[in-house]
Amino acid sequence: MSNSALIKSSIAKKYWMAITGLFLCTFLVGHLLGNLQLILNTGEEGRRAFNEYAYFMGHNIFIKVLSYVTYASIIFHAVDGIMLTIQNKKARPVNYVYTKPSANSSLPSRWMAVLGSLILVFIVTHMANFWWKMKISEEIPLHTYKLKIDEHLGQSPNIDYYYTHVPSVNPIPKDTAQIEEKGTELFLKSSNLKLAEGYRDLHTVVMDFFNPDVNNLALLYLLIYAGSMAVLGFHLWHGFASGFQSLGLNHPKYNQLIKRIGQGFAVIVPLLFALIPILIFIK
Ligand code: HEM
Repeated sequence: MSNSALIKSSIAKKYWMAITGLFLCTFLVGHLLGNLQLILNTGEEGRRAFNEYAYFMGHNIFIKVLSYVTYASIIFHAVDGIMLTIQNKKARPVNYVYTKPSANSSLPSRWMAVLGSLILVFIVTHMANFWWKMKISEEIPLHTYKLKIDEHLGQSPNIDYYYTHVPSVNPIPKDTAQIEEKGTELFLKSSNLKLAEGYRDLHTVVMDFFNPDVNNLALLYLLIYAGSMAVLGFHLWHGFASGFQSLGLNHPKYNQLIKRIGQGFAVIVPLLFALIPILIFIK
């Protein structure tokens, strides 16, 4: 490939890395806010809220589309990053023309590919830990939440009957005598038609995962997660501001501010993520 073609493809790769990278930063913020519920909202109420939240995230069409964009961005960002690193290694001068030497000499910059690869390993293991159970294997306990019937259906407050308040599969009859509760599922007595089922108990899966009383490997997982968040921090330390630069969103007046915001993001977001398994572990 000629030098100018190399430069062009290098610029295009950096551009797409920046777009996908900054999009993944917004994913991180959303994911963090959702997961912070695990430590902020405790007890049965917290468990119910988190499982309802996970149900919503898995069923809302807009969120589903965003999820697919996230998976595609992760793959694209990783593949593009690997190709760019190989390309830069092959044609060293291109590297120096299109990256600021000052930024290039910092430790995270030189290690971006290594850090990124480690994050990719983390994401794959992490998705095997939770996402796989929730979305693919369905090896997940169901969670039912009991409500007084009148709270849900607006019936007489005197009815002394509780039933599981779960997403409806079929309409639930107002006459509770027609309903049979079997474990975490509700059935119509007459026809055995399934009316509703419990929420997937993702809350318990995550809590048990980092709980040393339940999981012998909890300490190992805590170390892997906390260590990976440190790696993520280093990656973002350089990556955030670098993304703006690659998109041409730089101005001498604002560069320093963008750099500082990026560094703040790189410290706060991974730190809060790491706090989740730490607090669950020491509870
Ligand atoms: C350390 C704290 C974290 C916890 C407790 C956590 C928890 C979870 C859980 C429970 C799921 C499954 C959600 C579902 O299938 O409904 C999930 C999915 C996922 N996590 Fe995390 N996560 C953490 C950190 C991270 C980080 C730092 C990243 C990225 C670097 C990440 C990337 C993902 C991705 C890409 C998915 C799939 C999302 C989707 O299907 O839309 N997670 N996480």
